[in-house]
Amino acid sequence: MTEDILRITGGRPLHGEITVQGAKNSALPLMAAALLCDGETVLHRVPQLLDVYAASRILNRLGCRCTAEGNTVTIRHTNAESSEIPDADMRTMRSSIMFLGPILGRMRCCTLTMPGGCELGPRPIDLHLDAMRQMGVQIRDDGGKIVCRADLLHGARIHLPLPSVGVTENVIMAAVGAAGETVLTNAAREPEITDLAAFLNQCGAKIEGAGESTVVIEGGRKLTGTEYSVMPDRIAAMTYLCAGAAAGGSVCVSGAAPQDLESCLNVLKAAGCRIGTGSGRIFLDRTGGLRNVRYIRTMPYPGFPTDAQALISAVLCTANGTSVIDETIFDSRYKHVGALLRMGADIRTIGRTAVITGVSRLHGASVEATDLRGGAAMAIAALQAEGESEIRQLHHLDRGYEHFAEIFHSLGGSVQRCRFSAKEREKQSPCA
Ligand code: EPZ
Repeated sequence: MTEDILRITGGRPLHGEITVQGAKNSALPLMAAALLCDGETVLHRVPQLLDVYAASRILNRLGCRCTAEGNTVTIRHTNAESSEIPDADMRTMRSSIMFLGPILGRMRCCTLTMPGGCELGPRPIDLHLDAMRQMGVQIRDDGGKIVCRADLLHGARIHLPLPSVGVTENVIMAAVGAAGETVLTNAAREPEITDLAAFLNQCGAKIEGAGESTVVIEGGRKLTGTEYSVMPDRIAAMTYLCAGAAAGGSVCVSGAAPQDLESCLNVLKAAGCRIGTGSGRIFLDRTGGLRNVRYIRTMPYPGFPTDAQALISAVLCTANGTSVIDETIFDSRYKHVGALLRMGADIRTIGRTAVITGVSRLHGASVEATDLRGGAAMAIAALQAEGESEIRQLHHLDRGYEHFAEIFHSLGGSVQRCRFSAKEREKQSPCA
């Protein structure tokens, strides 16, 4: 049994340019949406991630032939043989729920179980199921299996009680296969929604208003697979910018979409970073001290993204002064704070609020990633800490970041991914 760990020696500024990966949270719904299309779909700029491999396994189980060559995924639609997703596949990630809409849109029936994903507090799927019921889907629980069936999947006027990203995506994908028009109000406005609609429209769908609060979908149109390039990953881009902000130096992220990161860039500027943008590039320069950011509130897009909350909290640990963060999207998204405290941070969490009082320096520590963005926050903190840190449970990071260690290494950070056998673990042998 081997274990991979990240060994990071902090205290060195980062310098250089990296190209950001394609967006995990767009590639996954796009792969699911390919179910709705006849023929062949080719997706470029798909990051090589555990969640992508999981989505590929689900597509193959549903009767598609999904193959990957580097960052290109090809999905050939046969006659999908199954409308059931096994529990083991559902548990691998939250995005497995993204198959509900397209399976119903294509086959009018679907059997699945509760999805897995990062532990961020309860992550129910009630809004997904309510929306499907409004489109004519009967849903029953059969010993833990959720059995969905629609004699007639029809368009509806659906108002979401909250702008859920996943529910917005599922409604769009089901509505494309439904009879008649669907009007979705209080829809999520994230760029990943716009990317999904652009892909489906390129396949022959008619979706208007994606990226706004009201989306109108005309159902019943025949869709044919297409070739499409996934949008850049805005949260991965923010991750590398936050590393530059924390460690100091100058970092350029290319292949990015600065317009998707407005609220994030504003916070980095408030923290004392110099930011420049142009032709798909984001430049960050931090040579002076970090300043506190008095108040950050995570909000649905275009507000400050919840996925960047752990990342910015790692930056603000050594800012001059106190910063307050309110996490309004998830109940329990401060699991990474324990690791930052081990590194010498001064953070107090009360419910959904974190109060970060800047300290002069962090020090290295041995920590375990708790979830995808929490693990990234630990690496950001380790890069600015004095001395050596170790991060374990790297599978969390491998779900969402491609070439994580290599990217930091290319920016001059001392980041090594080491593999230990159980025996070596005891001897703590050095990284290869
Ligand atoms: C998507 O998750 C992202 N995941 C998350 O990114 C992101 O944090 C989240 O949107 C918010 O932006 C993917 O796109 C794969 P939601 P999703 O439905 O769709 C509640 C990452 O790190 N809710 O917008 O699951 C829910 O509990 C991940 O890349 C219900 O109550 O998020 C949460 O409090 C983490 N019932 C709120 O809505 C439901 O049926 C927003 O969740 C569905 C959601």
